[in-house]
Amino acid sequence: MTEPIYIVYHSVDHKIEFWQDALNPLMPGIKLVTADQPEAQNAEVMITWNPPEGMIASLPNLKGVISLAQGVDHVLNGKTFPSHLKFARLIDPYMSEAMAEWGTLTVLEYHRDAATYRDAETRHDWIRLPPRIAARTTVAVMGLGAIGSVVAETLTHLKFDVIGWSRSEKSIPGVTCYHGDDGFETCLKTADILVSILPLTAATENIFNAKHFALMKKGAAFINAGRGKQVVEADLINALDQDHLRGATLDVMVTEPLPADHPFWDHPKVNVWPHVSAQTNPESAGEQVAEAISDIRAGREPRNSVNIARGY
Ligand code: GLV
Repeated sequence: MTEPIYIVYHSVDHKIEFWQDALNPLMPGIKLVTADQPEAQNAEVMITWNPPEGMIASLPNLKGVISLAQGVDHVLNGKTFPSHLKFARLIDPYMSEAMAEWGTLTVLEYHRDAATYRDAETRHDWIRLPPRIAARTTVAVMGLGAIGSVVAETLTHLKFDVIGWSRSEKSIPGVTCYHGDDGFETCLKTADILVSILPLTAATENIFNAKHFALMKKGAAFINAGRGKQVVEADLINALDQDHLRGATLDVMVTEPLPADHPFWDHPKVNVWPHVSAQTNPESAGEQVAEAISDIRAGREPRNSVNIARGY
């Protein structure tokens, strides 16, 4: 019998069987172990979501790490990442589609005044608000990478006036693309509905703050599926309470799970989602994880390599 391929697994999200079962048929002999098992000492690859500080560095034979998510902040930020290791992340079309669905759903909730109608229903109140025209509604998608570009493109099919922002220059059919600091402010000032899918980096931490909320149009809606730490939560509550912003739909929070006593839960203008807009799915991402494991073990650069300095 050949020796199993030991892979270290650490995730706060899923039990080890979740990934073991998905990878079994794709990589015969694969055996996931936790970092505290003796086999971990010889493992060449770790697959992970949110490893504790020091865990990666404690594995002496590691050649590389695979993030079980598209974002990599939970592996890099505030943690030591040994520079000799290869590092891959997921770029999963299924997750982009899932985010496009969620983005469309939440944008349409604002566009079609869903909350107001559901609330009127509880009062048996037959109210009719004036209609809005999609083509005259500007939706800004902040972050035009593998996911944001699909969200933006999807929204163009509903005829919204879609604009978008990314760090580097991008071009997406039907989307007015901005970049740079000026472009960021233009998007804030122009959007009726702003959807952020930005990665968390030193440059995007706390980027949605009092100054930037003040630049947004009065009555604009704020949707965040990027990372909670991009938002100064007290500033957002302030902007909502002062009636500057119409509402906020949040799939990501500074602290997750959102603490039971957090003001977002009961805030009448905040919709809370439990980080489910685009969940990791071993059914769709298993193959690329298996491929990245093979690449790293063979000393090849994995397909979706992370640029560590850039943070995505
Ligand atoms: C989820 O938040 C991800 O980064 O994939």
